[in-house]
Amino acid sequence: MMEIKQCRVAIVGATGAVGQEMLKDLEKRDFPLTELRLLASKRSAGKKILFRGAEIEVEEATPDAFSNVDIALFSAGGETSKRLAPEAVKRGAVVIDNSSAYRMDPDVPLVVPEVNPEAVKQHKGIIANPNCSTIQMTVALKPLVDRYGVERVIVSTYQAVSGSGWKAVEELRSQSQSVLQGEEPTLEVMPVGKLDQHYQIAFNVIPQCDVLAEDEYTFEEIKMVRETKKIFADDSIGVTATCVRVPVERGHSESIYVELKDDYELDEVRRLLKDGAGVILDDELGAQRYPMPLATTGRPEVFVGRLRKDLHHPRALNMWVVSDNLLKGAATNTVQIAELLLR
Ligand code: A2P
Repeated sequence: MMEIKQCRVAIVGATGAVGQEMLKDLEKRDFPLTELRLLASKRSAGKKILFRGAEIEVEEATPDAFSNVDIALFSAGGETSKRLAPEAVKRGAVVIDNSSAYRMDPDVPLVVPEVNPEAVKQHKGIIANPNCSTIQMTVALKPLVDRYGVERVIVSTYQAVSGSGWKAVEELRSQSQSVLQGEEPTLEVMPVGKLDQHYQIAFNVIPQCDVLAEDEYTFEEIKMVRETKKIFADDSIGVTATCVRVPVERGHSESIYVELKDDYELDEVRRLLKDGAGVILDDELGAQRYPMPLATTGRPEVFVGRLRKDLHHPRALNMWVVSDNLLKGAATNTVQIAELLLR
């Protein structure tokens, strides 16, 4: 692992939904950087963005933009990562990539700092940030994996549109407005698939996040299966995922069924989650307390509630997990990985 002495940071995709949150996170977390370079497509070159009270001009992301950069945070889609991450590494930067381009590459660690921080040491220039739905699930599972072992996970997601970028957020807003005004909504973005066929997301639910991958699963679902195994370094965890887009702007929710390897007491599970790194337990159904996307927006943690014993399987339990997909699901996890590099 290369040692980072000076910390000059670049954000690739600085004008995007996640890039903007990275910028805010670097500011909020007082990240010890000496210089910040903001990169995006040619379209954004010349735009000015405020950081710590000073304006920084956005530059076009080109290979040479990475000269004199120590850490490059990428969130500009897989194609841009494939094209530019090796160029950044060639010029001496460590890349932390938020796209799916390198996640399953055996030479690239896939890191959730609360779960497998030690993996960061194995990097050869690129470190991958996992998929948003996978990050929040692994943070919630970590205390259970450590104490009991996990055999089987069945997860259904309720994913916010911001996971597909600004265009998707704008589509939800404009479609909602059109419907309320009795006009025909424009369908342009959702779902993001290979076909040029779109459905209304406002006042609707779409059981497709990302493209069709294999065996009738979407790529988002396959990511949850494979990335979970890689993060826990355990191929035996059986994950089944159904990923669904809902008309929420920000914050992914997940209904998770977990089969443990050992017997458990719900009170102990509650205690473990309460003490879990990066977890906030919000679980009191009788008082109508449970996590919801609106309440978790802007928060860096993973919220867990609706904990209950399964009624049929003695070693299984059910839970509801919510987190801000743009923060812990993306920007915050990336900045936390950068913090690990400096330690
Ligand atoms: P730009 O704003 O110039 O298009 P989102 O996820 O919200 O859609 O944002 C995607 C981010 O990725 C934006 O910052 C966008 O910049 C950036 N981006 C898209 N295509 C490229 C590219 N070819 N090179 C560099 N950055 C890109």
